[in-house]
Amino acid sequence: MAEATFLMLLTILGIYAQDDFEVVNREEWGARSPNETTTLTPPQPLVIIHHTNWNSCWTLEQCKSEVRKVQDFHMDVRNWWDIGYNFLVGEDGRAYEGRGWTTEGAHAEGYNNCSIGISVMGTFEDAAPNITALHTLQKIITFGVTEGFIDLNYTLYGHRQTGPTDCPGQTFYNILQNGSHWKENPNHNATNVY
Ligand SMILES: *[C@@H]1O[C@H](CO)[C@@H](O)[C@H](O)[C@H]1NC(C)=O
Ligand SMILES: *[C@@H]1O[C@H](CO)[C@@H](O)[C@H](O)[C@H]1NC(C)=O
Ligand SMILES: *[C@@H]1O[C@H](CO)[C@@H](O)[C@H](O)[C@H]1NC(C)=O
Ligand SMILES: *[C@@H]1O[C@H](CO)[C@@H](O)[C@H](O)[C@H]1NC(C)=O
Ligand SMILES: *[C@@H]1O[C@H](CO)[C@@H](O)[C@H](O)[C@H]1NC(C)=O
Ligand SMILES: *[C@@H]1O[C@H](CO)[C@@H](O)[C@H](O)[C@H]1NC(C)=O
Repeated sequence: MAEATFLMLLTILGIYAQDDFEVVNREEWGARSPNETTTLTPPQPLVIIHHTNWNSCWTLEQCKSEVRKVQDFHMDVRNWWDIGYNFLVGEDGRAYEGRGWTTEGAHAEGYNNCSIGISVMGTFEDAAPNITALHTLQKIITFGVTEGFIDLNYTLYGHRQTGPTDCPGQTFYNILQNGSHWKENPNHNATNVY
């Protein structure tokens, strides 16, 4: 059965709690084991959005390969314990499990212990993530709220609001600023981010 049909069937039957988006878990994308983990106690007051500043991907195989590449980079070059993000999203419309909901990430220094970090795979300075990826991003945040991993009144930030970086890219950041949960970060505004 085609995957989309299968998911729709599960949704109709009420079995598939995550509605119509798919989470590719660590085992499925071939994750390496983390060196160590720190527990992140829910719910998180912040959701921090990133881009990988790397390739976009549009198929399951491409995206799994990208996620592995990002994990290798974070572990072997950055020397982090695991892939930095809590989740990633591909323009294939799938979400990819990074550290997950209850393990502290390494994605926004000073904010890792109070946030879920989600990265859309691609470089979004001049182009926006496609609408499929944006919908999945919204769905995974909504799922996190529904399941109690994210505060009901969470605040949405772009990575650049938490430290010196252009991430998640200007075009994507413009879109985020339209989000109903987006707020200006008083400590890291445009005057002191760069
Ligand atoms: C997102 O990208 C994928 C791959 O190109 C494509 O199949 C899909 O139609 C795109 N969706 C939108 C709405 O652009
Ligand atoms: C992770 O574990 C490997 C293998 O034991 C080790 O070589 C590496 O230094 C560790 N990395 C960190 C960041 O602790
Ligand atoms: C997060 O870490 C900071 C700095 O170590 C600390 O002040 C803060 O209390 C921590 N927050 C949580 C929710 O653990
Ligand atoms: C949500 O925000 C309101 C108003 O700022 C605050 O009173 C409330 O405690 C917040 N709830 C949570 C769960 O953080
Ligand atoms: C933000 O929302 C306004 C009003 O709906 C819309 O005109 C504008 O195009 C949006 N900007 C982006 C970057 O999505
Ligand atoms: C930006 O941040 C600086 C330093 O934290 C602060 O002095 C300034 O008032 C802020 N500007 C705005 C527009 O919020």
